[in-house]
Amino acid sequence: MDNSDQNRLSVTLVDVTAGQETEFASLAEQLRALLVRKKYGVSELVRDEASPLRYYSVRRWADAAAAAACHADPEVQQLTARLHQIARVTHVVNGARPADPLRLLLDDQRARVEADRRTGFERRVSAAGRAEGERRAGLDRRLGPRRLQNRPGEIDLVAAARRAREHADAAFSKFRVGAAIETADGTVVTGCNFENATLGLTICAERVAMFKALSEGHRAFTRVAIVADTTVPIPPCGACRQILWEFGGNLEVTLANLKGPSATHALKDLLPLPFDARLL
Ligand code: THU
Repeated sequence: MDNSDQNRLSVTLVDVTAGQETEFASLAEQLRALLVRKKYGVSELVRDEASPLRYYSVRRWADAAAAAACHADPEVQQLTARLHQIARVTHVVNGARPADPLRLLLDDQRARVEADRRTGFERRVSAAGRAEGERRAGLDRRLGPRRLQNRPGEIDLVAAARRAREHADAAFSKFRVGAAIETADGTVVTGCNFENATLGLTICAERVAMFKALSEGHRAFTRVAIVADTTVPIPPCGACRQILWEFGGNLEVTLANLKGPSATHALKDLLPLPFDARLL
């Protein structure tokens, strides 16, 4: 019987970089074949008639567990990482989400710890002094969920931020910024800055990325990359540090210019002594 409480459809919007169409067609076919071969599900690519570089990728998962297994599959991740180099991928429907145990756990914690808007804080407190923490002594403890180290085909977050920057609208400052946030399930959500005629309503790339991600239902994050066309890569502004901290926890923050990344910081070092929901 159809399990109607599990959303088993994933839809992504794929904007391919001009000139990369052949590479994209090859990658899409490899991914499609992989999904069938490993019985994860079937995928279909629909081209947007009105814009030749835009595609809709529709994946129908065998079941919610297959969707989760597919996301965790190194072969899939490797192809997806290459895809992110040549296309901007926007998740419209994420069918893997309902089966994600991490998400269920977070939702559960959120429901119980009512006064705490950020479940991440709770994780840090409860993880303090554990044996696992001691093994990691000397390393910065991260607030969010643990990211797999050196996993194959890791997504090039800086490249995603650089591409997002192309959409920035900085008519007044001419200072265009791109940001890309990686969620705990490996989704990349990008943002860029927008300025307006009254100037004061300007919003930074980082906050656009974070609010986009939150509005799409993401609640757990691992990394963020920020790109501007400066000799020395720019750190996020104070307002963005606050929002990234409150919703993303101790993210790994990579600062980059158009040539590449130059520095990575833990967000807690960029925002010492933060004000957050724990103090309310
Ligand atoms: N800006 C960002 O998008 N992110 C930052 O971290 C710093 C500043 C934007 C805001 C404004 O549109 C322009 O850069 C100049 O401040």
